[in-house]
Amino acid sequence: VNLRNPAALILACLPLGACEWRIQNALAPAGPHADIVATLSWVMFIGGGLIFVFVMALSAYAVWAPAERRAWLGHRRTIIAGGLAFPIVTLTALLIYGFFIFRGLHVEDEPLAARIEVIGERFWWRVNYYGEDGELLFVTANEIRMPTGRPVLFVLKAQDVIHSFWVPALAGKLDMIPAHVNEYAFAAERPGVYRGQCAEFCGAQHTKMAFYVVALLPDEYEAWVAEQMEPADEPDTPFLEQGKRLFLANGCGSCHRVAGTPADGLLGPDLTHIGSRLSLAAGVLPNNIGTLGGWISSAQHIKPDNLMPSFGNLQGEELRAIAAYMESLK
Ligand code: CUA
Repeated sequence: VNLRNPAALILACLPLGACEWRIQNALAPAGPHADIVATLSWVMFIGGGLIFVFVMALSAYAVWAPAERRAWLGHRRTIIAGGLAFPIVTLTALLIYGFFIFRGLHVEDEPLAARIEVIGERFWWRVNYYGEDGELLFVTANEIRMPTGRPVLFVLKAQDVIHSFWVPALAGKLDMIPAHVNEYAFAAERPGVYRGQCAEFCGAQHTKMAFYVVALLPDEYEAWVAEQMEPADEPDTPFLEQGKRLFLANGCGSCHRVAGTPADGLLGPDLTHIGSRLSLAAGVLPNNIGTLGGWISSAQHIKPDNLMPSFGNLQGEELRAIAAYMESLK
């Protein structure tokens, strides 16, 4: 594409319209909290743009207008009004407006739909779901499902270094700090899939520390919770049976938990229902049998310095069996 040709440039941009641009876009809010952030962004962007144009116009006037006509620009009164009074008044008004609009971020009076603890680790997200009495219901990873309509409380923690929790389409960002608990409640209005991203540099694979938020209608969410609380499906073919045996024989269970099997490791993601997730390796790969095999054999190649070793020792058929077993854990 010749980018200097405006028609070609416009044509080249057309396919962008088909992209899932809403999935991670602070300017396409999908909930009341992101709405507030987007509104403030537009007020500042448009206000800042108008002031910029005005200042540029004054600058041009100061350079090109006849000397006697532009003289007032150098008067003491102009400088006090434009250089001192105007910024103080504008910034104070913006600050008050900011305080006012951000009151909408508090949800103290609204009943919460769920309490979800998210822990940032290098380089993935541990997600713990709690019941109404504070009991741990189940654990998942790199994917958060939440009901639409009512705010959900997110309890944000960090395991090792500072991470930052950010789902642009649903809320502003909030840091996850070791030995500190941050709480953040926000709601999703529309069902859909939204992408989140770690927003604080946390090491080699910071860019590959993403996750998905799936907002479901409340009854769909309840059904999903009930499924997640079940132990893992038992293999129902000899091939899957072999996959499970190899999974356990290769020591996967010392880092990963699969509820209902001897695998009870807590270091890495809980794999009880890994087959039902959208992505692998914290939003890096789509989740299917091919990427599962690739990730198990080459995790260090795909995401160097993450804690998952590459199991390059596995033969092709063994790898296929383990990947198929993982895929079957819906
Ligand atoms: Cu975690 Cu950046």
